[in-house]
Amino acid sequence: MAELISGKLVSSWKREQIKAQVEELREKHGAVPGLAVILVGSDPASSVYVRNKHRACAEVGIRSIEILMPEETTEAELLEKIRELNDDPAVNGILVQLPLPGHISEEKVINSISAAKDVDAFHPENVGRIVTGGYKFLPCTPAGIITLLDYYKIDVTGKRCVVVGRSNIVGKPMALLLLERNGTVTVCHSRTKNLTDITREADILVVAIGRPNFLGKDAIKPGAVVIDVGINRLPDGSLAGDVDFASAEQVASYITPVPGGVGPMTITTLLQNTVNAFLETV
Ligand code: GUN
Repeated sequence: MAELISGKLVSSWKREQIKAQVEELREKHGAVPGLAVILVGSDPASSVYVRNKHRACAEVGIRSIEILMPEETTEAELLEKIRELNDDPAVNGILVQLPLPGHISEEKVINSISAAKDVDAFHPENVGRIVTGGYKFLPCTPAGIITLLDYYKIDVTGKRCVVVGRSNIVGKPMALLLLERNGTVTVCHSRTKNLTDITREADILVVAIGRPNFLGKDAIKPGAVVIDVGINRLPDGSLAGDVDFASAEQVASYITPVPGGVGPMTITTLLQNTVNAFLETV
């Protein structure tokens, strides 16, 4: 039976450290890091994510600024708001919750955020730095996964790593971070042929495709480390990962549950990125 990788445990340990760091900054500089979170529209899932981000900021002492804009906000209005926040010295991090309404270009919006305040690490300058080295921010979910691997002393060097999913938010940067840790990395996606032949070769398997219970034990090499990024709402209201947990835990050596695995780590990295952005300014 696999050992559980608890994002709940590791994130609360990390958040205690961040809280202490913020308190030190308050004493030393008389100021705390500030994070602006913009939500355009009222998508229920996005509203929950944004609320969780504000709650997490409050818990560690980061000042969060909630900016709710109506669904019909124009692209120009959003860009103007971002310009204001770019110029505001009390704002260290800016996060625009995705997805945006269809009439607003996500690319334009991401490119307009100051790279120094881009705590999601979505700006092309920050993405480029992940490729070439010398980065300031790491993308929240992939960096949170690396923190989990480190906590459980799972060494990546020389391991066969397979990432299923190629999104800009998770799959692509995850592959780069595993490569940086000296993994031998393969990225699979919806057009990959004979997918399970490849996933079965993985020592470390990261699944981020957004399809509930998509991979089970037949797709997993005995002893593999399985990281499940999926958070899928089932018709009965319960949550399921991209991995069939009950089946996969029979063969994996380590596995992340859903919920309580990768999820809490994403926000924890966001908090750390916000503190790091503040540190660049003092
Ligand atoms: N939507 C889903 N995940 C994310 C994320 O990590 N950052 C932002 N800005 N939007 C998201």
